[in-house]
Amino acid sequence: MCGIIGITGRDDAVDGVVNGLRRLEYRGYDSAGAVINDGRELRVVKRAGKLGELVKALGDTPLSASTALGHTRWATHGAPNDRNAHPHLDPSGRVAVVHNGIIENYQELRASLGDGVRFASDTDSEVVAHLVADELDRTQDADLFTAVRTVLARLKGAYSLCFVAVDDPTTLVVAKYEAPLIVAHADGVGYCASDVAALIEHTTEVAALLDGQVARISPDGIEVTDVDGASVEPHRYTVDWDLSAAEKQGYDHFMLKEIHEQPQAVADTLLDRLNAPAPGQPARLTLDELRIDEGEFGRIDKVFILACGTSLHAGMVGKLAIEHWAGIPVDVEVASEFRYRDPIVDPHTLVIAISQSGETIDTIAAASHARDQRAPVIAISNVVGSTLAREADGVLYTHAGPEVAVASTKAFTTQIVACLLLGLYLAQARGRLYTSEVSDTLGRLEQIPAALEQVLELDGQIRELAERYKDVDYTMFIGRHAGLPIAMEGALKLKEISYLHAEAFPAGEMKHGPIALIEDGSLVVALAPAGHVFPKMVSNIQEVRARGASVLAIGTEGSTEELKAHADDVLTLPEPPHELAGPVLSVVPLQLFSYHVATARGEDVDQPRNLAKTVTVE
Ligand code: AGP
Repeated sequence: MCGIIGITGRDDAVDGVVNGLRRLEYRGYDSAGAVINDGRELRVVKRAGKLGELVKALGDTPLSASTALGHTRWATHGAPNDRNAHPHLDPSGRVAVVHNGIIENYQELRASLGDGVRFASDTDSEVVAHLVADELDRTQDADLFTAVRTVLARLKGAYSLCFVAVDDPTTLVVAKYEAPLIVAHADGVGYCASDVAALIEHTTEVAALLDGQVARISPDGIEVTDVDGASVEPHRYTVDWDLSAAEKQGYDHFMLKEIHEQPQAVADTLLDRLNAPAPGQPARLTLDELRIDEGEFGRIDKVFILACGTSLHAGMVGKLAIEHWAGIPVDVEVASEFRYRDPIVDPHTLVIAISQSGETIDTIAAASHARDQRAPVIAISNVVGSTLAREADGVLYTHAGPEVAVASTKAFTTQIVACLLLGLYLAQARGRLYTSEVSDTLGRLEQIPAALEQVLELDGQIRELAERYKDVDYTMFIGRHAGLPIAMEGALKLKEISYLHAEAFPAGEMKHGPIALIEDGSLVVALAPAGHVFPKMVSNIQEVRARGASVLAIGTEGSTEELKAHADDVLTLPEPPHELAGPVLSVVPLQLFSYHVATARGEDVDQPRNLAKTVTVE
């Protein structure tokens, strides 16, 4: 989704803004723009397309000043073209704004300005610049900070907004409501950004604005107030990511780098989870942050896992783990559906909200819908200080490091690991497992990183398969039990980066309809590890093969000999250290397969069409 970066107090503010936009490219966008404030005028350059177009245009119109603001836009209102790109100016060119989110009442606000007012774009955002400029005109001695606060009272919707005004050349004014905004000040320079990725090259000491907060940023410092002007505190924290983690480090794409980072990411997520409550006491599994009494978990009689996309698939594995170890019934639900129905939620319902970014609006809203009904919420997130993590009663962080590629990989495997930890934690809290059983199981999970290294060695073989299957018309992924979420994740990965038609089904459901799609030339990817559902998977493989499909089977050491008799191609994975850890291993060949198919087809792997990394609008 859209990205914002603002800098004030550096001679090369425009270069800094362009670098910041580069670090925000991963969010997904279709146009980019910048404004500089040199105290005489606001100069705007904006272009549809990739950042390179903006850089070229900036080269043609060199801009220099110590205050600049940049934006990457992911179109919602109005086509992705030059005129709809941000920043937007008011008609007199006095105020410029960039905006993430949606101003829901923009038509009403436009109408309130009268018929004579011309708009230069079709966006919902431009009207905000008009309103702030009007406010400055109306109140002779008002400054930008005051004028913005007055206008905010009229806006409905979600926003992170950043303004500059020609009369105030060293100031950025920012406001946040239901869309993330980070501010920072280091070495006499003030910054704002839509996420920390744009700031870590400058500082790791940042503050996240909370809903309803407004800030004035200048080279002297940052002042934060509520909309009435009362001084308030944002959420200050230290970012523990280093700059190298957010760079490609020799890999062709972030996605490939992130796939290869999975052994380390999983090891980091498992690290230091056992702590003794007092000397001599047995070590117990702990969460990163818990703001509810552990005893409450004994009273939980139902769990909802809420998430979107890849995180939802991790939640499906979480269901298996919690039901298996903790013995509590679990429903897994798409967050955007949960919030618009009447789920039966009460203080005995535990809600687990999973989000890599912690900023997905649907997941945040679904979690808050549950909290309104007094259900405790635990967040699983990769981003320390994210909105979801801040608002939840407890947090389990995945320590995957920054995930830049739109297609989620290391976030997914670490989310599964976090779900396994949570399943064990709940079992421990409810007395379903002895502490020794928890630590034994944890010991087995600690073997996952080494097994992942082995899986990554299949890369060459997978690349050859991708070459062979790259033009297939239709791919069906099938699996059972812990293989089903991975079949779904495999299909999502393939479609999002290669744009091939791919779907996933529970293998047992195929005969109830989907098998009608199978014909000569279809590809079926079957998750078939050794285990209790393996014989059923073999039957399902035979059924699709009999109808003309080629079968690529993902097996384990204990299942591949038999698979070779039924499938066209077989990939052999090591046996997982625990059946529920199997998905962490079996998803990796599917990530690599999607990656190699997409690159063989010449697609833009890290920034696939139409998609955004962090989905901050509904
Ligand atoms: C995965 O490859 C996707 N890009 C997408 O499905 C993603 O997982 C989803 O948007 C949820 O994001 P979150 O984990 O940040 O909430």
